[in-house]
Formats: sequence, C-alpha cells, structure tokens
Amino acid sequence: MTRKIQILDTTLRDGEQSPGASMNTEEKLIVARQLIRLGVDVIEAGFPVSSPGDFRSVQEIAQLAGDDCVVCAFARAVEKDIDLAAEALKYAKRPRIHLGLGVSAVHMAEKLQISEDECVEQAVHAVKYAKRFVDDVEFFAEDAGRADQQFLLRVVQAVVDAGATVVNIPDTTGYSLPEEYGARIKSIMDNVKGIENVTVSVHAHDDLGLATALVLAGVRNGATQVECTINGLGERAGNASLEEVVMAIKMHGEALDAHTDVRTRELMRSSRLLSRITGMSVQANKAIVGANAFAHSAGIHQDGVLKSAETYQIIEPSSVGAIGSEIVLSARSGHAALQHRLAELGYSFESGEFDDVYQRFLEMADQKKEVYDEDLESMLEERSRDVAAIYTLDALQIQCGDPLVPTAVATITDEDGVRHIVSATGTGPIDASYKAIDQVVSVHGDLEEYVVKAITRGIDAIGEVVVRVKSDDGMLFTGRGANNDVVVSSAKAYVNAINRMITTQRSREGR
Ligand code: KIV
Ligand code: ZN
Repeated sequence: MTRKIQILDTTLRDGEQSPGASMNTEEKLIVARQLIRLGVDVIEAGFPVSSPGDFRSVQEIAQLAGDDCVVCAFARAVEKDIDLAAEALKYAKRPRIHLGLGVSAVHMAEKLQISEDECVEQAVHAVKYAKRFVDDVEFFAEDAGRADQQFLLRVVQAVVDAGATVVNIPDTTGYSLPEEYGARIKSIMDNVKGIENVTVSVHAHDDLGLATALVLAGVRNGATQVECTINGLGERAGNASLEEVVMAIKMHGEALDAHTDVRTRELMRSSRLLSRITGMSVQANKAIVGANAFAHSAGIHQDGVLKSAETYQIIEPSSVGAIGSEIVLSARSGHAALQHRLAELGYSFESGEFDDVYQRFLEMADQKKEVYDEDLESMLEERSRDVAAIYTLDALQIQCGDPLVPTAVATITDEDGVRHIVSATGTGPIDASYKAIDQVVSVHGDLEEYVVKAITRGIDAIGEVVVRVKSDDGMLFTGRGANNDVVVSSAKAYVNAINRMITTQRSREGR
C-alpha cells in the first residue's frame, strides 16, 4: 500500500486572498460543502482575527464539517490570533490551529524585525500556547523556500519539541527549483528528531509556474500533506492547484509511493463552482479542468484518438467529472424528478425551501426548454445570492434601439423591505441600468471589468455576466448575475457586487 497523502485545501484562506476573490460566509459554506463532497482531509476555513466575517465563516464551517474532515483556522504566531482561532473552532469536532511566522532572513529582518533567537522563541511560545486549546497544531515556517537551511532545521526541531503535530514548509514566493525544494524536505526528514511522529506538509506558490512540481518534489522526499487550492487560486500567481496535484499523484502513485482519498469525479464540478462564485474563470488550456483539457483539434490527433483514446489522452475525462450528465429536465418534470436530480448533484433542501427551488426551476424551464445540470447549479447559486442580498433587483425594464435614448426603469427592494422604482438614461442599456441602480444603493463603485458568456447550452442558454467593481478604498468586488437576458444578468451582477462590497465593509466594522 502506498502512503496516504493528506490534502489540505486552502481555497477559503490563501485562495481567498487573491484580489477580487473574496467570498461571503454563505458562499464559503457552499464551497466548503463541495470540498467535503470532494473528500479533502483538511479545510483551511479562514483567518478569524482578520475580520468578524472570517471568524463567522470558520465557526460555521467547523459546525458543518462535523467528523467529515479537519477544520483548520489560520493565525499568526501571536496570542490574540490564537485566542480567536480557538474561539472560532470551539464547536469543531476535529479542530486544528495553523500558526507560524517568517523564518527567512528578509522576513525576520525587514518584516518582523526580530533576531533568529527571538523567532525561535516566538514560534515555540505560540505552539505551546495553541496546545492549551487544541491538540492538533500546525506550524508554518513562512518563506522556508528562501530560508537558511540550518536555521530552518533549528526552528522545525524546536516546534516539534514544543508539540506541533504538523510542520508546513512553504515556498511562499515560489522561488525554488523542485529539486532544491525536495532536498529541503529530505534534510528535514533526515535531521529533525521525532519527525516520524509529525506530518510534514508542503505548500508552494506559482510565481514561476512550478507550484505543482514543487509540492510533488516535497511528496517524493517524505512530505505526507499537500496544501493546495481549487483552480490554483491564491496570492499573486496562485497556489499549487488541487486538481493537478491529485491527478499527478493518481497517475504516478507507484513512483511517488503515494495516494489520496480525493473523489476525482468531483474535480470538474468543484472547479466550475469556484469559478462561478469568485468570478475567476480558468483559462481554456488549464490542466485537468480547462475547457480544452480533453479537446482534440488537430486532424492527426483526432484520427489517433478515434483509433485509440490512449494515443493522446492520459486521463479518462469521466474520471475527473468532465463529461456532463445527459439527463435533461423540462417544465414537465415534476417535484420528484427535480429532487432526485438535485440529490444526485449533492443538494438537499427542507420541504419549505424546496417549494421555492421548484418554483424557480419552473420559471427557468418555461424560458429555457431543456434544463441541464449547469442550469440547475447556476439557478441554485443565483438563489443563494438572492437569499443573502442587501439589495434585490425585482424588475428591470429597458427601452433601447436606434435612434431611441437607452432608458432603464429598475425596481429594487432594500433590506428593510422598502421598494424603490428608479429610472435613468445612459449611453447604452447597461449603462442606463447601472445609473438607475446607483440612485438607490448606499455605496459607490467603479466598474473595472465586465465579462459576459453563455454558461449553458443552446440558443436559449443562460447568459452569465461577471463584473469587477472597485470601491472608493481600492478593493475589488466580483459580482455575478445569470439570466436569459444579458441586460438583466448585467444589472444583477452589478447589484451582487454592491451587496458584497457592503457586506465586506460591515464585516470589517464588526457589524
Ligand atoms: O505561502 C505561505 O507561506 C502561506 C503560509 C503563511 C502558510 O500561505
Ligand atoms: Zn501561501
């Protein structure tokens, strides 16, 4: 039997640090549910001290996960962070605190302004302090990829002696070459006393496009936990991508002496879900989950694949969930058929809630004759956005054409239940509707990016719009909207971005 490699998913912590990828608690819970379905071993749910919203997300994910997986809260190696991490994890069945500090010369001298001795002392104190609250304490040695190796060994030995159960050796800046990073891990395995009783974890960023290669080099040299994110989301160029790591381990299990317990058929769905929620799509040629990952276009390739798929295909598409279900629902499908399909897709609802879901399904099926899985997923995400909304776009009426002046009349309900009917003219129908919406909402945002695409199949496909809106303090907020009418999708996306901006501002202020 090969070694079990634990998968720590940090999409909700490191991934969310990516500009424009911030998620609210409801969205994080949707992602967490999918991570549980995917079978990850550890969910890094957030950084509780960073905002009340993050604190609440960790709390709720801890309760959601139960026994299914470890839930981990991130902290700097300081008491205040650890106190809040412990508090957020209070109801977790399998809690872990992930804490640490910089260990490279540049981090200690410039960022932390501490000496090597102070660094070791702070690390040991933090691990011992966290052990008062939880048994499972993971220590991260930030910027280990550029640290002096002798000093790194000293820090790791000290935290292992202090009771750390996992040691994370991140290549924070993605600087190393894979063989160098592998050698660092080997030297830790060979030199730290008691390392056999501790999990060694690898974590790498993709600044040189090497993140997956780096963590695999770590696994080859003794690491048994990999930290990664769906779609490689994360700071700057991102983290090692979960789908790449998991599939590489699956393909080369014997050579790496490794396996994971991830349900690979859930990979595509996890990727699509995250893209929809964050608005950050993956490029078509992205490994495993890109739209072209299994497309063969050159004549020679098509000829080969028709004769034998093995000629140009190393992965069976269905093994990563790349082939959609061919079950098609329509307005004639009853409650039972919808409930059955949603259950297969992993969704369940209380009976009161299901009536609303069924109603939305009928409205969609009336407009769009054939309803595919992607339509259902899009409808449910649209519904969860509405449930969490501060402002809701109830109706939008547009008049435009040549030579008409584009005019929008929008009906918007605010969180106090007050209905506003506003109108505006603009350079086009979208501009007019955004100007109308601006008359109601309490914050100002500048539209930075606008993308429209069809997310489902057919001429009556649902058009999805993703916008990025910049707040006055320079933060980016992603908004999404889906409808058969792209002008309505555009207005919904804008309202969604504004709602996120307000939720984030309130959460920062502790409201
Ligand atoms: O990249 C990194 O070093 C991290 C740690 C702080 C765990 O994300
Ligand atoms: Zn990181």
